[in-house]
Amino acid sequence: MQRRQFITSIGTLGTLAAAGLAKPLVAASANSAPSSATAGTDASPSLLGGTPAVFAPTSESFTVTLPLSAAALAWIEYGETKSLGLTASSDQWGFVPHDSKVVKIRVTGLKPGTRYHWRAVLKPLGGKGAGETRTRIYTTKTLSPGAAETRFSVWNDTHDQAPTIQKLHSLRRNDDDFLLWNGDLSNNVNDASLIPGIYVSPKGVDLAEGPPIFLARGNHDVRGLWANKMTDYVDFPGDRPFYALRTGPVGMIVLDTCEDKPDAHRTFKGVAAFEPLIREQSRWLDEVTQQPALRDAPYRVVFCHIPLRWTKEVQADYNNKEWDHVSLRGRAAWHDTLVRWGAQVIVSAHNHRATLIPATSKFPYAQILGGGRAISNATIIRGHADAKQLKLAATMIHDGSISHEISFNPLA
Ligand SMILES: [Fe+2]
Repeated sequence: MQRRQFITSIGTLGTLAAAGLAKPLVAASANSAPSSATAGTDASPSLLGGTPAVFAPTSESFTVTLPLSAAALAWIEYGETKSLGLTASSDQWGFVPHDSKVVKIRVTGLKPGTRYHWRAVLKPLGGKGAGETRTRIYTTKTLSPGAAETRFSVWNDTHDQAPTIQKLHSLRRNDDDFLLWNGDLSNNVNDASLIPGIYVSPKGVDLAEGPPIFLARGNHDVRGLWANKMTDYVDFPGDRPFYALRTGPVGMIVLDTCEDKPDAHRTFKGVAAFEPLIREQSRWLDEVTQQPALRDAPYRVVFCHIPLRWTKEVQADYNNKEWDHVSLRGRAAWHDTLVRWGAQVIVSAHNHRATLIPATSKFPYAQILGGGRAISNATIIRGHADAKQLKLAATMIHDGSISHEISFNPLA
């Protein structure tokens, strides 16, 4: 199976960050609507193994993931109107995207802040079988670094829970620029065949109906013998699980806090090598925060699954089944750079309890956490920023009440 099937090469994160931030970065603003879509597949058995999903919007691209039920060729028809008119049908290696399990197609060369209509077309591979499968027409929007405002929503710790995922999806806002899914979608990945049902087509929810998705990995997304296969199905701007974006007036950085125990912990069975990844993000942060689109952003926000601050910070006893409630490893590596950059708030998850910790002189960034996996304490964190303020509000999904909110004045 090909791991990645992009329409064009997107290069390394450093390259993308430099290019994107400079002009501006991997901008952020995309959404989609349940749309004007026409329903539509033909009469043959569907080649789709589930509904599609849109990941990693940038100012000039987005990636569509298509889970497959059989070997198929796949391409995307798209355009600024329902009549489509353009086709993305070649990967960076010169192939028409094809596979038997999943294809990811990055549609590139798009305009910033622009809504695109798109559908996927699949054809049996090798000329066997009749007919094509067509998805209905969806819409999605590229990110807009130059926009005067931005809005977004954050989910976290859904842990494959059907009622919570379905409720969250029912509350989606189609004018959001993106959905940031802040980790722990899964409960350990020890069976790779479960991945599409967790990350692409979860619990009967058609993610492509909602805004495009940024993923921040949680400790349960990196845990299990086959957690490394998740990246066959999801996409990240810059092709690594940490990235920086500019969405309207907000400079945002997504960090990967990795596991909540040291790499050598016996339960990881030798597959964990996250400590080097945390160090690599430290080097990268230093570089990316100097890019003008981030350095000069009016608002500065970090998203990461495990919080960098917590109400009770004690060293976990890993030999007695304890785990990190706060990423002290991540904080040690990143704190100084985040303070230098001017990070105003860290948006996190992990402890299953909506919480707000204000900034202090020692920690000049606030920390907000979303709630847990059950509908009774799950939240959506809604974000909105314009010239006057950035506001974040954690909303309980069972009754719509706001559990915590905080706002910030622009820095620049
Ligand atoms: Fe977690």
